[in-house]
Amino acid sequence: MEQQKKILCVGLVCLDIINVVNEYPEEDTDSRCLSQYWQRGGNASNSCTVLSLLGVPCAFMGSLSAGPVADFIMADFSQRAIDVSAVVWQVEGQTPCACCVVCPSTGTRTVILSDMNLPDVTADDFSKVNLNQFKWIHWEGRNAEEQVKMIQQVQMYNSTLPQQHRITISVEIEKTRELLYQLFPHGDVVFVSKDVARHFGFESGEAALKGLYSRVKQGAILICAWAEKGADALGPDGMIIHSDAFPPENLVDTLGAGDTFNAAVIYTLSNGGSLQNALTFGCKVAGRKCGFHGYDSIREIFTDEQPKS
Ligand code: ADP
Ligand code: FRU
Repeated sequence: MEQQKKILCVGLVCLDIINVVNEYPEEDTDSRCLSQYWQRGGNASNSCTVLSLLGVPCAFMGSLSAGPVADFIMADFSQRAIDVSAVVWQVEGQTPCACCVVCPSTGTRTVILSDMNLPDVTADDFSKVNLNQFKWIHWEGRNAEEQVKMIQQVQMYNSTLPQQHRITISVEIEKTRELLYQLFPHGDVVFVSKDVARHFGFESGEAALKGLYSRVKQGAILICAWAEKGADALGPDGMIIHSDAFPPENLVDTLGAGDTFNAAVIYTLSNGGSLQNALTFGCKVAGRKCGFHGYDSIREIFTDEQPKS
């Protein structure tokens, strides 16, 4: 039997040092947290965590620098059975680390990331990856110019194959950086954040999709999540699809909600599910995640709820 093809996520992995606080601290005060723990973080890395909890074989590609932080990260990847054979070990720079403040009373997550000197993976690194093992590759927008070259490699690979064996390409444009906007025309599925939407002057998901759709390639799907407002999507038929959010009973931890949403959407679409099912499932998984610390709750809650394709 042919081995099940994997989903590859390309982007950041970092260490999240998470401080859970009662109240967001005032500047220049000295306070105690409710709890503090380390967690593997980074958008692409978090999406892998969620995919693996949903039972999907997946792989991560990003940079690490050898040392105790990378050891922690690698042990966690291994515990989650996430394939790390495409990780690039850099000889210069430090593994990124984020100080995160999670505040259940307000539902905010505040992040300060040190992402200064570790080189990103390049198109050359990517050319060494055997594409045959993947059915879907997701890029978290970072070094966009190189990422476009990686995507072109996949397009070349796809052009030799019949439709059913092609790799689907998704990209996430989350940060408001001009350079990332060149990724819009390169995804079959494009996730754009509300930050970017707002940066372009849109005040709702629907307005953002209508305003930004001309930037994506023909036939692509554009998706915009909007926290407690849920998420919207627009495909080639011109119909706006919407899912409300599924707020948890108690809002606990919104760190990585977007990465969770992306993973659950990719999960559904890669199994042949409809866009509506993908959005609804994305919001359900992300909403429930917000009710717990970390990601583990996803496995227990969703074993019975995963939409059948
Ligand atoms: P992020 O800021 O992590 O990128 P988003 O704000 O884009 O995340 O939210 C992604 C998804 O997570 C939303 O579509 C929604 O389904 C869910 N979500 C996020 N925040 C909340 C919240 N406060 N209540 C309910 N669902 C939420
Ligand atoms: C959540 C996250 C964290 C990380 C930060 C980096 O979406 O990936 O895990 O610290 O964002 O921007």
